Amino acid sequence: MTSGDHTGIELNLEDKNDWELEQIEIELLLEGIHRFYGYDFRNYALPSLRRRIWHHVHAEGLTTISALQDKVLHERSCFERLVHNLSIPVTEMFRDPNLFLTFRQKVIPLLRTYPYIRIWHAGCSTGEEVYSMAILLHEEGLYDKARIYATDMNSRSLQQAKEGVFDIKRMKQYTKNYLEAGGKQSFSEYYTAKYNSVIFQPFLKKNMIFAEHNLATDRSFNEFNVIFCRNVMIYFNDELRNHVHGLFHESLSHFGILVLGAKESIHFTNFSDSYEALDRTEKIYRKIK
Ligand SMILES: C[S@@+](CC[C@H](N)C(=O)[O-])C[C@H]1O[C@@H](n2cnc3c(N)ncnc32)[C@H](O)[C@@H]1O
Repeated sequence: MTSGDHTGIELNLEDKNDWELEQIEIELLLEGIHRFYGYDFRNYALPSLRRRIWHHVHAEGLTTISALQDKVLHERSCFERLVHNLSIPVTEMFRDPNLFLTFRQKVIPLLRTYPYIRIWHAGCSTGEEVYSMAILLHEEGLYDKARIYATDMNSRSLQQAKEGVFDIKRMKQYTKNYLEAGGKQSFSEYYTAKYNSVIFQPFLKKNMIFAEHNLATDRSFNEFNVIFCRNVMIYFNDELRNHVHGLFHESLSHFGILVLGAKESIHFTNFSDSYEALDRTEKIYRKIK
């Protein structure tokens, strides 16, 4: 065996050991968080979870995942920063405008026939999706008979959602999205600008209910005509995704509508036969059994 070969074998073994050790450290960190704080990240998809954890190790000025475990378990504020980091609160108003346009065209006519409408935005982040829905329902004359339940596991994002204050710099993009989504008025009528922020009209909030809810650990809490859960389950593994689909199936009324994100699908889940596609491209499904 040449020394080159020998070094090669040693390197491979070292890589294997590093990888095994990293796996153990991640598992211990997630187990500790689950047992101590009750947040369950154990079934999040590993590649993005791993990236986020390492990002957080460095952000906390640490060098190992074990050191992060120590800090997270002994300092609640460090744990809260980690939850915020793992939650990926990226969102925008009328995100994927064509989905909202299709919702107006295909779902609103169904909702008109109901005496009242209950909508759940699961994983609502900082609330942009929820305010978009309130505007849409208002323009369709349905907001007064609607209740919008907006939930997320991230309390910091939820607080922002409740306030309804957004960065003024994003309004140009949101106005474009609103118009593409079939918006019927002037978007600026819905908010008042103040310094670098805008605050949305208080009437939009009147039928919104915000609450902390963790899809991995909390139960169904009502029956809904519509559930939006977009760009949340892409971060879950198959087991957790199926668990959450079970929760949604239990929470939807018969013929209830499920709306997923652009990169998500009901196919390849345990519930694919329970829904028909109302619009396959926009990921709008209707519960049929
Ligand atoms: C990328 S944002 C999606 C926001 C919005 N639905 C959209 O599509 O623009 C993902 C959100 O899912 C939330 N989330 C992740 N895991 C969750 C869980 N187990 N329970 C509840 N919310 C969760 C995060 O906190 C984050 O706010």
